[in-house]
Amino acid sequence: MKNLRILVISSANIDFVQRMRRVPYAGETIVEDEEGYAYYPGGKGGNSAVAFARFGADTVFACRLGRDTNAKRLAAVYKKEGIDTHHATVDEEAETGLASILTEENGKNRIVVYPGANRRITPEDVEEAFTCYPDAVFLQMEIPDEAVIEATRLAEKAGIPVFIDAAPARMDFPLEKLGKIEIFSPNEIETRVYTGISPATEEDCLRAAIRLSSKVRARYIVIKLGDRGSFIYDGQEYYIIPAEKVRAVDTTGAGDVFTAVLSYVYLRNGNIISAAKYATCAAALTVMKEGAYPSIPTKEEVLEYIRNGRSASAENGEDGQQDFAGGEGETEEE
Ligand code: ATP
Ligand code: RIB
Repeated sequence: MKNLRILVISSANIDFVQRMRRVPYAGETIVEDEEGYAYYPGGKGGNSAVAFARFGADTVFACRLGRDTNAKRLAAVYKKEGIDTHHATVDEEAETGLASILTEENGKNRIVVYPGANRRITPEDVEEAFTCYPDAVFLQMEIPDEAVIEATRLAEKAGIPVFIDAAPARMDFPLEKLGKIEIFSPNEIETRVYTGISPATEEDCLRAAIRLSSKVRARYIVIKLGDRGSFIYDGQEYYIIPAEKVRAVDTTGAGDVFTAVLSYVYLRNGNIISAAKYATCAAALTVMKEGAYPSIPTKEEVLEYIRNGRSASAENGEDGQQDFAGGEGETEEE
């Protein structure tokens, strides 16, 4: 089977991660371990691009960086990961995006993003990126609306599938302007922002998915529900894929990895349930380690996790003994 070229048009950040037992109250000072912080490559787009590359996709990352040392660090990482950055642009005025991430002992995080150059990706940049002739396009909402909308328009014109990880929550995003979408995937907060429904129960998830379906032209709505797993709606039926029972150290990037793996496996085998199971295992491995970038698993690590019988959702023999390309054997060709 031919390798798939995925065009990721999205954000790139450096993550300043601070670990703490708990976040401070307003006015409070907390003294933590001196080793308690780190700088990692990040950004929703960067994390997803790395996940695609580590799953074996021919990954093209169209992002915008500043002319600074953080940009050089990120470019070196993308090169190491085998990500094509011919369509990454350098902004002469804005700095590379930065995210400040507070991570508590329970694995929960709070993120503030300073978008910098990400905010200056233009529809022209998007048009230029399409000259790589992608097989599919992957988008997130951490870049300007016009760029996201233009990407769906060009993809629809070219007849290629679009996957949208609807993060971060954007109250004012004109969803109705998006072109045809294969999978639209918000998390719990994004679902609430886009629909006004908090996906607390199965019934709420269904109501929210139906409401989303009336706003976006998507084949599948996949709601990410954190440690509860994910909810898939195909316009008629729904399916729930439970999360893996693992000890969460840091959930940063779980959503980015989940949606990238979901999209890639779905593109390979056309089976949304099987794809969601692989994505669930990949996201579980992501939450078990600190930081987004250092915790993104390779395809082999996910397959090994499943083969070892550690996965409750992708059971051995069902998905675990075979690769997701099904009978066509992606592993053999590699
Ligand atoms: P992020 O933390 O990157 O913002 P998100 O909010 O976009 O993530 P989540 O719903 O938190 O997305 O997580 C995506 C997927 O990761 C879930 O559907 C689930 O499969 C997995 N996941 C998240 N948290 C946990 C956890 N504590 N234990 C196991 N799996 C988890
Ligand atoms: O989803 C996690 C990502 O969100 C972080 O890497 C941070 O950069 C923000 O974009």
